[in-house]
Amino acid sequence: MKEACLLLVAFVFGLAAVDVRAEPDPHSYAEPDIVAVRALDLELDVDFARQQLSGTAELTLDWRDPLAHSLVLDTRDLAIESIQGVAADGTTVDLAYTQDPRDPIFGSALRIDTKTAVPNVRIRYHTSPQASGLQWMTPAQTASGKQPFMFSQSQAIHARSWVPLQDTPSVRFTYTAHVTAPKALRVVMSADNDIAHALDGDYRFRMQQPIPSYLLAISVGELDVRSTGPRTAVFAEPSVVAKAAKEFEDTEAMIAAAEKLYGAYRWERYDILVLPASFPFGGMENPRVTFATPTVIAGDKSLVGLIAHELAHSWSGNLVTNANAQHMWLNEGFTSYVENRIVEAVYGKQEADMQLVVSAQELHTEMQGMKAREQLLVTNLEGIDPDEGLSGVPYDKGSWFLRFLESRYGRDAFDPFLRAYFDHFAFHSITTPDFLRYYSENLEGKFPGKVSSADIDAWLHQPGIPSFAPIPHSARFDAVDKAAADFLAGKLAARKLPARHWVTYEWLRFLNALPEKPSIAQMQALDKAWKLTGTGNGEIAFRWYVATVRAGYTQARPEIAAFIERIGRRKLVVPIYSELAKSEDGKAFAIAVYKKAKPGYHPMTQASVEKALGL
Ligand code: BES
Ligand code: ZN
Repeated sequence: MKEACLLLVAFVFGLAAVDVRAEPDPHSYAEPDIVAVRALDLELDVDFARQQLSGTAELTLDWRDPLAHSLVLDTRDLAIESIQGVAADGTTVDLAYTQDPRDPIFGSALRIDTKTAVPNVRIRYHTSPQASGLQWMTPAQTASGKQPFMFSQSQAIHARSWVPLQDTPSVRFTYTAHVTAPKALRVVMSADNDIAHALDGDYRFRMQQPIPSYLLAISVGELDVRSTGPRTAVFAEPSVVAKAAKEFEDTEAMIAAAEKLYGAYRWERYDILVLPASFPFGGMENPRVTFATPTVIAGDKSLVGLIAHELAHSWSGNLVTNANAQHMWLNEGFTSYVENRIVEAVYGKQEADMQLVVSAQELHTEMQGMKAREQLLVTNLEGIDPDEGLSGVPYDKGSWFLRFLESRYGRDAFDPFLRAYFDHFAFHSITTPDFLRYYSENLEGKFPGKVSSADIDAWLHQPGIPSFAPIPHSARFDAVDKAAADFLAGKLAARKLPARHWVTYEWLRFLNALPEKPSIAQMQALDKAWKLTGTGNGEIAFRWYVATVRAGYTQARPEIAAFIERIGRRKLVVPIYSELAKSEDGKAFAIAVYKKAKPGYHPMTQASVEKALGL
């Protein structure tokens, strides 16, 4: 039966037809060339008192080497209780295994002697309360304060801390899960959530399309649900769900815009789960249900580009996947490009251009502090924690490269090319050379002479942004730039800034125009006129707070403390900690605030903040 299913999957998703060349993944112990996991069946109980998941993971195996009998899996802090081989007739046999010593970045290889090429293995295990991919929260850490909460964040290599598996995006598998949890709580997974499910503590899930391990996701908590369209809904804590549904009411329009450009949405539903504020990222593209920070809810939809981004991953990333983190630009660069196209289609070119200009500007600033090798689109991450390799380069340089191709070939050629690329590699995991082969056959080959191989090399393998890159421009920013210059020259009072109707990105542009060290008087005047300290907009807030620290405008400190205690999103809090750490007095303040904030932070945020503070 299982084999028939695999054949069907292979047929439906065209698994064999595509030229994709394997490359070892430096971040996994697995040996998918010998044996690959094709399906995962989870039976898990959620225990909040122990802060653990416990149960079994059954893996369906595809032995590439029929004579092999060793299965190597990735684990981190997993307690393995027993492992059985499961024969085709269902009979089981206990298997011997060893777990390697724990590597601080990669965890422990689990080596199973399967004796023969068994079709399935069943692993009984439980997680550690310190699992790097899970955050367990007490009721006090949630919005309502009534129920505990738990969520996963598997990307980049944290799935291994809650499921024993081949934790590499080069392997794709389908999954089912049977999850038991305390009644009254809802369980959501990156699978076929039923928005009408009774809160009975007993949930079953199925993900029929083969996905990489980093897209495994689970969350359990006091979650309400509100439908926002024919195939969209939001899950959120009760006090947040109405605001969230309003903020995300354009989601269906975004899906329609993306489908028009890149073909049918292939995952049926697109729901959004709004997590507590400790979620360490802005968003995570878990299939069928994006996980999102509540800080994306600005009240005026000005930050929903983040939803466009996570939705875009339904094509770039979830459908066509980077085979390992060294080719992350294939996920994040393509996605940032598609994100901007969706924003343009739904909110107009002015809005899309402002977003482009801000990211280009911030990429330049960020790259000034980076080593040349860190500025390359294709990187060597051997021995490097993929969480640490995160920068704007795969996102903004990657999408800039695609905009460059767009500008040379024109949308008439480039849009159909991208659409065909998503179809061609759908449900495959690929590397940059795979992309390049497809590009030279289907774009360069068809329209020769528009882009040289030196151009391509400059984008992929040289630091910085090539001198021939198209420069994004926003006419609306011309007025902001003029006002900022006049204000900084003392020619325009803060209260006379034409900012009454500025949208978020105009404010970001203005804040980015402040000098390295603004004067306290300038900061005071801005604050008095525009009440920036205490703003509810996280993107404005963190840039403003960094500027207050640089200026020595310490009046903002109580609000800074409140902000970084409440929010755990790394992008918003780490820059503030880093800036504070530059002075002795600032560092003492930051450490005191961190002590209070730490218990509410996700393990990833704790690690990043401790690094920023040199702890
Ligand atoms: N997939 C990423 C998040 C991620 C990347 C997690 C690498 C772990 C390792 C997600 O799609 C993302 O990029 N989120 C951004 C938001 C986006 C609008 C740039 C974030 O969280 O800030
Ligand atoms: Zn992304």
